[in-house]
Amino acid sequence: MSHFSYKNGVLHVENVALNAVSQQFGSPTYVYSKAALVENFSAYAGACQQHSPATDSTLICYSVKSNSNLAVLQLLSRLGSGFDIVSGGELLRVIAAGGDTRKVIFSGVGKSREEMRLALSHDILCFNVESIPELHRLNEVALGMGKRAAISLRVNPNVDAKTHPYISTGLKENKFGVAYDEALACYRSASALSNIDVVGIDCHIGSQLLDDAPLLEALDKIIDLVNQLAAENINLHHLDIGGGIGITYDDEKPVAIDDYLSRLFTRVNAWRQAKYKGAPIKVMFEPGRSIVGNAGILLTEIQYLKHSEAKNFAIVDAAMNDLMRPAMYEAWHGVQTVAQRGGQAQIYDVVGPVCESGDWLARSRSLAIEAGDLLALMSAGAYGMTMSSNYNTRGRAAEVMVDGDQMHLVRQRENPADLFALESLLA
Ligand code: LLP
Repeated sequence: MSHFSYKNGVLHVENVALNAVSQQFGSPTYVYSKAALVENFSAYAGACQQHSPATDSTLICYSVKSNSNLAVLQLLSRLGSGFDIVSGGELLRVIAAGGDTRKVIFSGVGKSREEMRLALSHDILCFNVESIPELHRLNEVALGMGKRAAISLRVNPNVDAKTHPYISTGLKENKFGVAYDEALACYRSASALSNIDVVGIDCHIGSQLLDDAPLLEALDKIIDLVNQLAAENINLHHLDIGGGIGITYDDEKPVAIDDYLSRLFTRVNAWRQAKYKGAPIKVMFEPGRSIVGNAGILLTEIQYLKHSEAKNFAIVDAAMNDLMRPAMYEAWHGVQTVAQRGGQAQIYDVVGPVCESGDWLARSRSLAIEAGDLLALMSAGAYGMTMSSNYNTRGRAAEVMVDGDQMHLVRQRENPADLFALESLLA
C-alpha cells in the first residue's frame, strides 16, 4: 500500500495526513487514494492492452458492489471501465456517475421485471442470466418493450475456488449460475427464444482468490463449452471470466494481475488462433476487490480504553455497521495508529459502540495507544462502505477521496434525522 505511508511519524494517504482528514470531516470516515485506484485499474488495462491489443477485444467491467461511490465509478469510467451491476440501483449509480451503459453487464440471480425494463431501456451490453425461469422472464419483458435482450449464461464450472465458503460461488451446491452439464441445453433453449440474442458466456467462481489456478481451470472448461456451442452454430461474441482476484490483508500473497492475465491470454490467444483464425472473441473481467480493496482505509477515533481482567478494549467510533467484514467473515484488517507514539504497547481488541458482542473490528492487536488517538483500519476500500448499515441508528460514515495533496468529500456523513425521514407516525 505505497499510497498509505508514514511521513514524520504520521500516516498519510498520498500527501494528506489522516489527522487533517479527521479535523476537516470527522470520523469515522472512509478515505480512498485516487492514485491507488488508477494504479490498480491500470494493472488490468495495461495487461489487456499488452496481451490482447486488438480494438474491442477486451473489456474490464468493474464490479460496482465492491465500492459504488459515484466518484469511484466516475474515475473508473474515465479510465475506460465498464461495469458489472447486480441491481437497478447500481445501474442508476453508473448513469449518475457518467458511465457508459453500453459497457454494463447485469449479473445476479434475482432480477425483477422492473430492473430488466430499466436495463433494456438503457441498452446495456448484456444480461448475465443465471436460470431458465429468468431467461423466460427476460424474453417476455423484452418482447413487451419491442426490444431484444443480449444475454450470456452464467455457467457454474464446478471448480473449487479454495476461498471462504461465504464468498465461494463456483461449486455446484451454490445458488449461482446454471450447472455446467446443463449449459448446452440452456443455450439451445435461449437461442430459440424470440427476443433473446445469445452473445456470451460468463462465470465467476468466488472472491479473494490468491491463486489463479482455479480461474484457469474454469477458463478451460468455459472454452470447451464455447467450442461445443460453435459446433452447434451458436457463436458467442464474448467470454467473461468474472472477478475474484484477492488482495493482501495480512500476509497473503495474491497472484499479480499481470501474471494472471499473461497466463490467461496465453491460453485464450492460442485458442483464438486455432478456432477463430485469430479473430478476437472478446474477453471480459469483473474485478472488484483487486481494484478498490487496498485503495481505501477506514479512519476512526478511539473513544475509550477499557481494561478488564481478561482483555483490553479500544472502543472506537467506527463499528460493525460501518465495516461488517470482521463480524460477518471473521475477516482480518490491519490496524495502524495515525500518529506513531512511544510507550508500552498492549494487546487490544478494537471494538465499536454497537450493542453486540460480534461488534469487533480487530482482535488481539499490539498497540501503543491512548484515548483520542486515531486509528486506520487498512484495506477497507472493498465491501466496506457498500456493506454498511444504519444499525443502532448510526449514520453512515463520510467518504473522502485523496488526490495528491487534495481531499474531496465524496459522500457526506449521514445526518441521523435523514435516517428516519421516510418513516411516519401513526395517525
Ligand atoms: N462478479 C460477480 C458475479 C460477483 O458476484 C462478484 C463478487 C464479483 C464479480 C467481484 O468479485 P471480486 O473481484 O471483488 O472478488 N462481501 C464479501 C465479498 C463478496 C463477493 C461477492 N461477489 C467480502 O467482503 O469479502
